[in-house]
Amino acid sequence: MRIQKIFIGVLIIMFSCQDKNADLEDGKMDEYISNLMEKMTVQEKIGQLNLVTPGGGILTGSVVSTDVEKKIKEGAVGGIFGIYGPEKVGVAQKIAVEESRLGIPLLFGSDVIHGYKTTFPILLGLSCSWDMELIEKTARVAATEATADGIFWNFSPMVDIARDPRWGRIAEGAGEDPYMGSQIAKAMVKGYQGDDLTKANTMMATVKHFALYGASEAGRDYNTVDMSRLRMFNDYLPPYKAAIEAGAGCVMSSFNDVDGIPASGNKWLLTELLRKQWGFNGFVVSDYTSVNEMIAHGMGDLQAVSALAIKAGLDMDMVGEGFLTTLEKSLNLGKVSEDDINLACRRVLEAKYKLGLFEDPFRYIDESRPEEDILTAENRKVASAAAARACVLLKNENKVLPLKKSGTIALVGPLANSQNNMLGTWAPTGRHNLAVKIIDGFKNLVGDDVEILYTKGANIVDDTTYAKKLNVFGEKVNIDRRSPEEMIKEALSISAKADVIVAVVGEATEMTGESANRTNLLLPESQKKLIRALAKTGKPLVLVMMTGRPLALVEENELADAILQTWHPGVEAGNAIADVIFGNYNPSGKLTATFPRNVGQIPIYYSIRNTGRPQESDTFQKFKSNYLDVENSPLFPFGYGLSYTTFQYSDFKLSKKTIATNESISITVEIKNTADFDGEEVVQLYVRDLVSSITRPMKELKGFEKVLIPKGETKEITFEISEKDLRFYNGSLEWDSEAGNFEVFVGGNSNDCLKESFTLVK
Ligand code: BGC
Repeated sequence: MRIQKIFIGVLIIMFSCQDKNADLEDGKMDEYISNLMEKMTVQEKIGQLNLVTPGGGILTGSVVSTDVEKKIKEGAVGGIFGIYGPEKVGVAQKIAVEESRLGIPLLFGSDVIHGYKTTFPILLGLSCSWDMELIEKTARVAATEATADGIFWNFSPMVDIARDPRWGRIAEGAGEDPYMGSQIAKAMVKGYQGDDLTKANTMMATVKHFALYGASEAGRDYNTVDMSRLRMFNDYLPPYKAAIEAGAGCVMSSFNDVDGIPASGNKWLLTELLRKQWGFNGFVVSDYTSVNEMIAHGMGDLQAVSALAIKAGLDMDMVGEGFLTTLEKSLNLGKVSEDDINLACRRVLEAKYKLGLFEDPFRYIDESRPEEDILTAENRKVASAAAARACVLLKNENKVLPLKKSGTIALVGPLANSQNNMLGTWAPTGRHNLAVKIIDGFKNLVGDDVEILYTKGANIVDDTTYAKKLNVFGEKVNIDRRSPEEMIKEALSISAKADVIVAVVGEATEMTGESANRTNLLLPESQKKLIRALAKTGKPLVLVMMTGRPLALVEENELADAILQTWHPGVEAGNAIADVIFGNYNPSGKLTATFPRNVGQIPIYYSIRNTGRPQESDTFQKFKSNYLDVENSPLFPFGYGLSYTTFQYSDFKLSKKTIATNESISITVEIKNTADFDGEEVVQLYVRDLVSSITRPMKELKGFEKVLIPKGETKEITFEISEKDLRFYNGSLEWDSEAGNFEVFVGGNSNDCLKESFTLVK
C-alpha cells in the first residue's frame, strides 16, 4: 500500500514536472518570439504569412510565385514549397538567414502524400491494409526521405471522408468511415512528426483539407458543400480532430464552403471550432490560392477576402499573395488590426521555433543524406509490403488464384507493361522510371518457370481528346498505332496458347486525383471490349484492377473468374502484385470505400441510417426505400475482401449484457482458418444504437484487429466496449451516450456479421 502511494506520488511529481517543463518551454518560446516580433516591421510580419512556390513541382493552380529571391531578401516570404534537395533548399535558406534584415529562416514544404521518392500505394489503397503500424511506417519512411531532401513541412495527411467515388481525390484519403479515418490520421501524424519535431528526420504534418472537402456536390472538385451539423460532427469531422489530437502542427483550409462561407474565410470553422473547441495551437495555411478564390465565391475583392481570411483565423496564404499585397492597406483602413497580423505572425514563427529552425536553420540540410536515406533497399521493401497489403481480393471463383508457378500465362491489358501509371495521383516527388512494371514483377518472381506471353490488348482509353486531358503531366495514356480490333485479336491469339489469362486493366494515374472527376464509373469501353472478348475464350480470366477509386464492376464481376483490386500500387508495383498473384503473399486487404453497382447509387456507404420504410432484402417491394432498376446493396460492401483461405466466425460472446457508464464489456469471438493457406483476417467490430434522440447509423465501426491465423488454427479475439465508445454528437451537438439497447456485430466485412446485444444503463 505504502509503496503504491510512493509510486503514485512519484508519478504525480513526474507529470507535474513534465507540465512545468512544457510550460517552461512554452515560456521560452513566447519570450523568444516576442523579442523577435518587437524588431519586426508590419510588412515583415506580413511577409511571414506569405507562402510561395517558384514552380518546378506540380502546379495545381494557374499561378506561380514570381521574384522569389528578391522577396526572400526583403523578408516578404515565410515559406516555400516545390523546391527539393539540400543544395537548392540550402541556398534559399541561406538567402533568408544571411540576406534578409532579420535573418528569419523559411519553412520548406511539399506534398508528400504517399511516400517521398519511395512511393507507396495511394492512401485509399494503403487504408485497405487496415494495418496502422504499416501506415505509420510508410509515413516515417516518407518523413525520413523528405527531410533528407531538405523538406520538413508536409501537406499531409489528407483525411477528407469521401463517399462519392466520382470525386477524383477519393484516391488521396482513407475512404468513407470516420473511425477508420481517425485511426489512419493518427498513425500518419505520428509517423511524420515522431516524438520530437526538432529531429532532423521528422517533419511537421498538415491535416487537410479543413473541412468537409470530400463532400463536394456531385463529386465535382472544388464544388459546394452543404451538410447538417449532425453529419458534420458525427461523420466528417472526426479524422481532422483525431489528427489534431495526435499533435499535427498545421491545418490546411479547404477550397469549398462550409455553411455558405468558404473555409478559408470561415471564422466559425478556423477559430470557434478548430482553436476554441478543439484546442488547436498550430498554424493554418490556406490551400493553393484559396484566399483569392473567395473572390469568385462572391466574398468581395482581394483586399476584402484577405481581410476576411486573417480575421477568420487563417495564418498563411498559399501562393495568392493577397495577404502580402493588401493587409497593410487593410490595417491602415482599420479593416484588420495589428493584433490580427501579430497573431498570425506569431503562429507561423512558433512553428519555426518548434521545428528548431531558430536554433539551427540548416538542421535539414545535409548533402550526404539523400544518398543514405532515399530509396534505400529497406524503404523499397516497405513499399513492396505495403502494395501487397493494399490489395483486395474481390472475387476468386474456383480458386483460380494464386496462380501456379508453371505453365503459360497470357498477360494482357494497357497497364501490364506500363511504368507511368504505377505511382498513382499526387506523387510529385516519385519517379516513374523507377516503378516496377507488372510484367517485370512477374518475370522477377517466376523467372523461366512460367512462360509469359504479353500483348497490350487495349488502350486505357481510345479517345484522343480524353487521352490529352490525362497526359497533362507527361504521357500516361498512349494510343497505340494498331487499331483496337487488331489489339484484341492479338490478345486472343496469345490467350489461345495460355493456361490462364491475366488482364491488367483500370485507370490511368490522372483519371483520379485533383480535378480528375468522373461521372461514369465504368471501366473505359476500350478495356471492356477486351475483357468481353477474353471471357469468351472460356480460359480462366484474372483481372488485376488498378484504379484510384471504386469502380462499378458489375459486368467484370460476371465475366472474370478472379478480380484483384490493386489500386495504384506505387514504386514496387510489379513485385508486390506478383507476390499476391503467385501466392507468396495471401491477400488480406479489406475495402474502406463501398463499391457501388452503378453511379446512381452514389453516395453509397455502409453506415446508413434506417429509413421509415426500410427494405430488408434486395427484393423490390413497393413503397419501400429502393430503386426500380438496381438493388439497394452495393456490389462490394465496406470491409469486404477475400483471402486465399477462408475464415469461420463462432463463439461470439459478451462478458455481460448490461453496462453502466464506468464499466466495459469484453466481446470475444473465435475465428478459425478453415482452408489451406496461412492468412490474415481483419476482424471488424460494429455497433448499432437501437433507440436514441436522433437517427443513428445501422452499423458503425468501433474497432478492428488484423490477426494472422495459421491454416487449421483458431484464434480468439477480444474487444472492449465502454460507454465512451457509444458516444455521439446529439441534437445539441453534445458528445454523449444515451441509455438503452445496442446491437454489436463482428465479422469479416460490414455485411456478414454475427450479432449480439447489450444494454447501457445510466
Ligand atoms: C491541393 C492541396 C495541396 C496544394 C499544394 C492544392 O491544389 O488541393 O492538397 O497541398 O495544392 O500543392
